Amino acid sequence: MNNDLIYQGSDLMLDRLPLAAIAKEYGTPVYVYSASSIRGQADRLMQSLGTIGSLRYAVKANANPALLALVFGMGIGADSVSRGEMQAALGAGCPADRIVFSGVGKTQEELAFALDRGIFINAESEEELAAIARLQTGVHVGIRINPCVDAHTHQYMTTGMAENKFGIPIDFAPRAFREAMDKGLVPDTISCHIGSQITSVEPYRKSLARLLELRDSLMSDGIPVSALDMGGGFGINYEGGADFAVEDLQALLHRDVPQGMKLSFEPGRYIMGHAGTLVTRVLYRKRYARTFVVVDVGMNDLIRPALYQAHHAILPVTRRDSELVTCDIVGPVCESADCFARDVSMPLPDQGDLLAIRDTGAYGWSMSSTYNSRPLLPEVLIEDGEPVLIRERGL
Ligand SMILES: Cc1ncc(COP(=O)(O)O)c(C=O)c1O
Repeated sequence: MNNDLIYQGSDLMLDRLPLAAIAKEYGTPVYVYSASSIRGQADRLMQSLGTIGSLRYAVKANANPALLALVFGMGIGADSVSRGEMQAALGAGCPADRIVFSGVGKTQEELAFALDRGIFINAESEEELAAIARLQTGVHVGIRINPCVDAHTHQYMTTGMAENKFGIPIDFAPRAFREAMDKGLVPDTISCHIGSQITSVEPYRKSLARLLELRDSLMSDGIPVSALDMGGGFGINYEGGADFAVEDLQALLHRDVPQGMKLSFEPGRYIMGHAGTLVTRVLYRKRYARTFVVVDVGMNDLIRPALYQAHHAILPVTRRDSELVTCDIVGPVCESADCFARDVSMPLPDQGDLLAIRDTGAYGWSMSSTYNSRPLLPEVLIEDGEPVLIRERGL
């Protein structure tokens, strides 16, 4: 929960700074991040999962260089899925030996880039393992297993079921490990990532049981597996309640994982999600059969509501006491999916009023595009009570 976003009188403040002042200085729409929220969430993970394994921040959640530097400065590594993300991680100060390279479609060039720098690769297919072995033998690699477990999240955020493209189905895993050994690789890590925005520990329990069974059978076949990469996926509460209980996962792993086995985690959303607030201005109101509030931010800037029907709370930056109306908050993009909230009850904002879309730090800016030839948004970080522009508005 983002406790850094609170009203003081009628003004919405982020880390004690009025969002209205930030909008005045940097214009709208603008992404604003709280450094203290990022540190708080990362700390929570370090206190729990960090005591039993290593953390690697999933760069895809938000790859702003200043935010990456903040996270890596806390001793957290990186999970990357492209050459661009590996470069971003290295550029922001993450040592190569703390970076993992995941992804279902790595190119030859990307594999060579990782191998040249000693970046650890989690392979996702037998053909990828062959491609790695053609480039270099003797390398330690992970093999991403699809444990065929339902993560009970949105269908586009589930990655660990038979119909998903990710990893190697668990029944075929022994063959993949054996072939990797035969090709001269050292497959010492079982990796998995069953989905994103997972709210209960149950899917992790199921997948852990399957992975440990696999590990036992590999060990008895003479394939020494010494590490388990559990992926990320820890959900945050977009309604203001409690986030995924990382302590429950810690307890489960503590109880079930054999001594001496190395563990790692790849959280993205949990670290960044609450930290971001997207500030937008009301352009027009249209009051006919429905009431539409048209804002200056579009689905190209924040695609989660359109793509996943994701809910983000929307708050007035200056509170009004007027009567509540039921309205839809929509953007300017030429798509009916360009809608941030349907049937919300709020005092009808005036033209020019500011609204704050909460919990947009993860998969917000990083999934944005220039659709409709719209410029990419600026990003501002509040650190020690001072706003700092960490990305200019696009042209
Ligand atoms: C391999 C891998 N690891 C980690 C993550 C991070 O997930 P989350 O942001 O839900 O923690 C993802 C996200 O898709 C992923 O694909």
